[in-house]
Amino acid sequence: MYPAPDLITTERLVLRRPKPGDARAKYDYSRDPEVARYVDWVPHANLDSALAVVERAAARWESGEEYSWTITVRPTDSAVGSVGCQVQGHAVELGFVLAKPWWGQGFATEAAQAVFAWAASCDEVCRIWATCDVENTASTRVLAKLGMVREGILRRWAIRPNLLLAFLGMPWSTRGFARPDLSLNRATEKRSVSHRPVQLRP
Ligand SMILES: CC(C)(COP(=O)(O)OP(=O)(O)OC[C@H]1O[C@@H](n2cnc3c(N)ncnc32)[C@H](O)[C@@H]1OP(=O)(O)O)[C@@H](O)C(=O)NCCC(=O)NCCS
Repeated sequence: MYPAPDLITTERLVLRRPKPGDARAKYDYSRDPEVARYVDWVPHANLDSALAVVERAAARWESGEEYSWTITVRPTDSAVGSVGCQVQGHAVELGFVLAKPWWGQGFATEAAQAVFAWAASCDEVCRIWATCDVENTASTRVLAKLGMVREGILRRWAIRPNLLLAFLGMPWSTRGFARPDLSLNRATEKRSVSHRPVQLRP
């Protein structure tokens, strides 16, 4: 895979690597019953637990197992959610979450599209997939807007049944994906990538 960009900018968002200051937001949204309704995580019991997730994310980034970005809405740097992908060989699994006040504005789609575009630009990635609870309509809709199609139902998956969705369009070049420009952000000495909204065919 190409080195994962530390920063991904979209029209309205900045996706950046998690930092300890994000722990409070992670703690808060993990404990919101509406946010947690369709996911299988255990809500953070305290701030230290949320902080441990930030630290684990850094370790998993370095090992190449998983890349997760904190979602921020320009121009603030406050964490409003998270988007990430786990890498398993040629396959990349997408996931995302937003704090409730930020739902319904297209932010999850915008964030997921940017990460999707980066993953899709990596030559060795030939499967991008996700699961979500069969009743999680908002998540299913976000994944559909990425061009993912339903592959089946995973019964007894994370307790409740989940939909299995994947993007099966191949090769990328025939779908009009442009390889992101992974340029060095001179101001921060970090890798960054900038995306216009990705044009995906249904
Ligand atoms: C899933 C989640 C990230 C979506 O975030 P979001 O920013 O509101 O999503 P978007 O605005 O980009 O898109 C949501 C789409 O679902 C649709 N939608 C939302 N709720 C819906 C509902 N109850 N019924 C039908 N459609 C619904 C919206 O209309 C929109 O589709 P549209 O653009 O065609 O109108 C957010 O609800 C969330 O964080 N949920 C909790 C965590 C979670 O479930 N994560 C996914 C795990 S697989």
